[in-house]
Amino acid sequence: MLVNSKKMLKEAKKKKKVIYHFNINNLEWAKCILEECNELKVPVILGVSESAVKYMGGYDVVASLVYSLITDLEIKTDVCLHLDHGSSVESCIRAIDAGFNSVMLDMSKKPYQENVEKVKEVVAYAKNNDVSVEAEIGSMGGISDGNLTLGTNTTLEDCKNFVQDTGIDSVAASVGTVHGIYKGELNIDYKLIENLYNEVDVPLVLHGGSGLAIDILKKCKEAGITKININSDIQDRWSKAVREFVTENKDVIDPRKIIGAGFQAIKDVVREKININD
Ligand code: 13P
Repeated sequence: MLVNSKKMLKEAKKKKKVIYHFNINNLEWAKCILEECNELKVPVILGVSESAVKYMGGYDVVASLVYSLITDLEIKTDVCLHLDHGSSVESCIRAIDAGFNSVMLDMSKKPYQENVEKVKEVVAYAKNNDVSVEAEIGSMGGISDGNLTLGTNTTLEDCKNFVQDTGIDSVAASVGTVHGIYKGELNIDYKLIENLYNEVDVPLVLHGGSGLAIDILKKCKEAGITKININSDIQDRWSKAVREFVTENKDVIDPRKIIGAGFQAIKDVVREKININD
């Protein structure tokens, strides 16, 4: 069933459980993640970046794809379709009009007041459509080709004000993680997460969940994170499995067999991450 993330995350926050957001890139990603979450009987948020939307053909394609998979695969678990890191008010509106039931507007690199004003526009439109809104405060770091750029953690005060000033349903607060797979030790501020959990009204979102050991993800959950975003870990494991298959099966040309060689890897990552709720 399609539900917006507000309902899912509110309940999870109360129980101190994590809901995962897994990014999807194509039909196969969506199918594998939905099948695995359905089998595990856990709710899931399918995150779609603007570049993934473009790759798949557009917002309507993505929404019809996900809706149809839910019907045809008889998915019983709760599913939320979420725009990840929307870069403008217009793209959030476009996603909502296509049927996404959750959107993120990421204006975190803009000055505070501009971030607030733009997010408020999205919140006003989303509320009329029963769609939930996530936005970011502080700035996330990232890892690209092995090079790390650190972000700036938010402060308790900024985060509290941001949630109040915007009326958002969940907040992506920078607490020390980075996007991408970083192999070294990251300086995650667990005390900040605890304070945010206790003093900010809405659920907390951890971006950059890849590359973090399971016990670190658990510590984040115990400190108060409610939503964890995972993208790169699935890409990493899927590509390794496919590369191995292609190297060992040079004569196979059927794309279903080549792409399909990574299905189990996608499902394995989903299952391993979800274990932290046990
Ligand atoms: P990772 O690629 O580090 O998992 O980050 C994903 C993410 O935060 C998507 O919003």
